[in-house]
Amino acid sequence: MDKEKFINSIKGVIISEEKIKEKVKEAGKYIDSLYDGKPILLVSILNGGFVFAADLARAISVPCEIAFMAAKSYQGTESTGTVNIILDIDKDLSQYNVIIAEDIIDTGRTLKKITEILKSRNPHTFKVITLLDKPERRVVDFKADYVLFEIEDKFVIGYGLDCDGYYRNLPYVAEMS
Ligand code: IMP
Ligand code: MG
Repeated sequence: MDKEKFINSIKGVIISEEKIKEKVKEAGKYIDSLYDGKPILLVSILNGGFVFAADLARAISVPCEIAFMAAKSYQGTESTGTVNIILDIDKDLSQYNVIIAEDIIDTGRTLKKITEILKSRNPHTFKVITLLDKPERRVVDFKADYVLFEIEDKFVIGYGLDCDGYYRNLPYVAEMS
C-alpha cells in the first residue's frame, strides 16, 4: 500500500490514545481485584489483541503470567463465519485465574469458541476482557465480563486492529473511510 492511500483511509479518530490509557488503567485495577492467591494468566488473542494485552499487562500489579492464543476468522472487512485456532496454550489452566484480553467482539464467534475450549480445561476462574464491543453485530450469544468501550457498527482500525494487516500500530482507534 502506498503512503498516501494509507493516510487517506484513516477517516477519523474514534477513541484517543489518552482515553484508552485511562480505561486500561481502570481495567488493570479490575484484574487486581480478581486475584485470590492463584496467579492470573493473561491470554492475549493474536493478532488483534496484542497491543491491548501488552498495555493491560503493565496495568496489573498482582502475580501474572502471559500466554498467547491465535484464531483466524476474518478476511478484509468481512467475517468468514468459521473460527480456526492456529496457536494454543500449553499450560495446566486449573492453576490459574484465566483472563482473555481481546481487541473486539463483533459477531461473537471467536470468543464463543475460545471460551468453550478454555472452560473445558477447568480453569480456576475464567473472565473475558475486551477493548471494544460492537453489540449490534452479534450473531451468537456472547457477553464479555468487562468492556472498555462499546462502539457502533463501524469497521475500526488501530491499537491492534487491522485491515488486511495494516494499521495495527496506530496508537488510537480510528474509523476506516
Ligand atoms: P468475531 O468473531 O466476529 O466476534 O470477530 C472477532 C475478530 O474479528 C476480532 O478479534 C477482530 O480481529 C476482527 N474484527 C471484528 N471487527 C473488526 C473491526 O471493526 N476492525 C478490525 N477487526 C475486526
Ligand atoms: Mg482478534
